[in-house]
Amino acid sequence: MTLPFDKNLSHLGWEEVKKRQLHRLPLADEWIDIVQMKPGHSVLDIGPGPGVFTIRYAEAVGDTGRITVLEKSREAIEYLVKYVSLLNFQIRVLIGDAEKTDLTGLSPFHIIMLTDILHHTDSPTKLLKNIYENIPQKNTRVLISEFDPTSKGKFGPPLDKRLGDEYLLEIVKNIGFTVISSNKQLFEHYYIVIEK
Ligand SMILES: C[S@@+](CC[C@H](N)C(=O)[O-])C[C@H]1O[C@@H](n2cnc3c(N)ncnc32)[C@H](O)[C@@H]1O
Repeated sequence: MTLPFDKNLSHLGWEEVKKRQLHRLPLADEWIDIVQMKPGHSVLDIGPGPGVFTIRYAEAVGDTGRITVLEKSREAIEYLVKYVSLLNFQIRVLIGDAEKTDLTGLSPFHIIMLTDILHHTDSPTKLLKNIYENIPQKNTRVLISEFDPTSKGKFGPPLDKRLGDEYLLEIVKNIGFTVISSNKQLFEHYYIVIEK
């Protein structure tokens, strides 16, 4: 049986996406560790969806840090804003397509989070190129995390809709990024940390 899958998540709804993020919360703590997110950091979370992980990042950077989200779905942003303000967090919210949004006016960022978004984009290459061309400072760490197509497929998108680590590593190297680290993770995920 082929499970339904829509890049814009219309097959799920934001409440269900939020439930799945809550289930995978330990992943967010691993990501925070991997990119060494610390109090005072400025973080750009691209494609946050309902915002469960965004709140984790806001806790990690504290009052002296800043979280910016860039999300192309207006509905997701409406959901996130309600959720985040209920919990009393201050987050800068931008609606836009990360494949084309000019990020230069928003920089600098210590960290850019790209978790489970690339398999939803029209062109992962365009999005990664846009980031590369728009971040002036060389030491911004970019964390990519995706579902692994070589795992069992017990949850998450169908295996044939996932992007492999080899595939993404090739793209980021061709663009000019330096790969800092890469490994397999919990919940059928892998991560790649890159810098300009
Ligand atoms: C599965 S959700 C991932 C949410 C969260 N980052 C996570 O790790 O669970 C993917 C999100 O990326 C957003 N998205 C997809 N393409 C985008 C783009 N080009 N620019 C900005 N957001 C995008 C979708 O609207 C959706 O909210």
